Amino acid sequence: MSARREAARQKPSGPIKVGLIGLGTIGTGVVKLLRRNQRTIDEKVGCGLRLVRIADLDLTRGRGLRLPAGLLVRDARRIVSDPEIDIVIELIGGLEPARSLVRAAIESGKSVVTANKAMLAVHGKELFHEAREFGVDIGFEASVAGGIPIIRVLREGLSADRNLSLYGIVNGTSNYILSRMQEEGREFGEVLAEAQKRGLAEADPSYDVDGVDAAHKLALLARLAFGAEVPLERVPAEGIRGLSQTDLSFAAELGYTVKLLAIAKNVGEEIEVRVHPTMIPKHHVIASVSGAYNAIYLQSEALGSSMYFGLGAGMMPTATAVVADVIEAARAIIKGCQGRVPALGFPNSKRLRIKPLGELRSEYYLRIMAMDRPGVLAEISSILGRNDISIATVLQKGRKIGGAVPVIIRTHEALERDLNRAVRAITGLKSVRGRIVRVRIEDNLG
Ligand code: HSE
Repeated sequence: MSARREAARQKPSGPIKVGLIGLGTIGTGVVKLLRRNQRTIDEKVGCGLRLVRIADLDLTRGRGLRLPAGLLVRDARRIVSDPEIDIVIELIGGLEPARSLVRAAIESGKSVVTANKAMLAVHGKELFHEAREFGVDIGFEASVAGGIPIIRVLREGLSADRNLSLYGIVNGTSNYILSRMQEEGREFGEVLAEAQKRGLAEADPSYDVDGVDAAHKLALLARLAFGAEVPLERVPAEGIRGLSQTDLSFAAELGYTVKLLAIAKNVGEEIEVRVHPTMIPKHHVIASVSGAYNAIYLQSEALGSSMYFGLGAGMMPTATAVVADVIEAARAIIKGCQGRVPALGFPNSKRLRIKPLGELRSEYYLRIMAMDRPGVLAEISSILGRNDISIATVLQKGRKIGGAVPVIIRTHEALERDLNRAVRAITGLKSVRGRIVRVRIEDNLG
């Protein structure tokens, strides 16, 4: 064992000391939870666990916390370089300075707990490698699906099984918006504006509604589920902005609910990873997950189906995941067994081909806004036929929107690449107006 590792493994003599970087919403929840449950947490760890320093750029904002003088400082380096501190919690989010601070903490032999999925999706490989080198732990349960302990499920609970597929509702903002649109018959913009007013959606909602946040989470989930490298740039992400009330009501008519799903599948030596709005049978258990809730529906070989449900965001739900990781890191420090569980479940990553989206085979819902005149449907179906796409259902009702009517087509299973070519050709027809809406259908979630 290297000297650095050896040094990192020296057991502290007194209580385990924790430093917190970032006293925003989740950080405040962490302080509250550590205080509220101090006794039970100490009992579970087997010794005292003490928050000895907090760093935040804002030293004045009232957060409903009474902090002892000197506990809160501005400079986060006072935490990562303090030899007394055993565990560093990073809750500032973003790539920098989060990554540099986490690296510095690891290099000083401290275990790290973070909720920063963007940092892990981009720099995870390097940070997990560093943690292994220095013999410390990185806990990141809070980075995916907030309070739902899905990382532990994949890494430990189901470590004996082979995962086949994973369907996640992992962005509460999008799920909230889609649920309200579906239940109340309202349009995307209106629901988003209301959610922003109520503090349920960010002022800049792009990360959430464009599928980026879900893609960050999926990169981690797929890595944990299958043990393969999943670079963020290989996770295609489509959000929910393009969907309208018309699509949701036609989906319902066809027997589906629309969810923004993070999907990962393992077939042989290949994996599929993608985030997009998906039509799923409306009676499937994951279709009932509404509002800001998250859920992960998993198919594994021996267990079969299982689903993990709860709040994926919010102060206290997310704080439970952060503090659970702190407890786990503390237990490992006491026993001198940091690094016992590989951070991503597999000590070595496997080489599995990531299937390009163009090779996906799926059924599709298409909404084409077309002029209501003879021959239009024939033109559209001829393009689909020429591209090897077979039609399962056509719906056309006189709901005129801006001079055109929605023509709804549900296809049989087709190749995504063929579908894209057909969509481009149909978009170019004189009798077709605007953008074609395309939603992938998943009928067999298991
Ligand atoms: N903004 C995320 C969501 C929560 O809406 O689910 C943090 O990952």
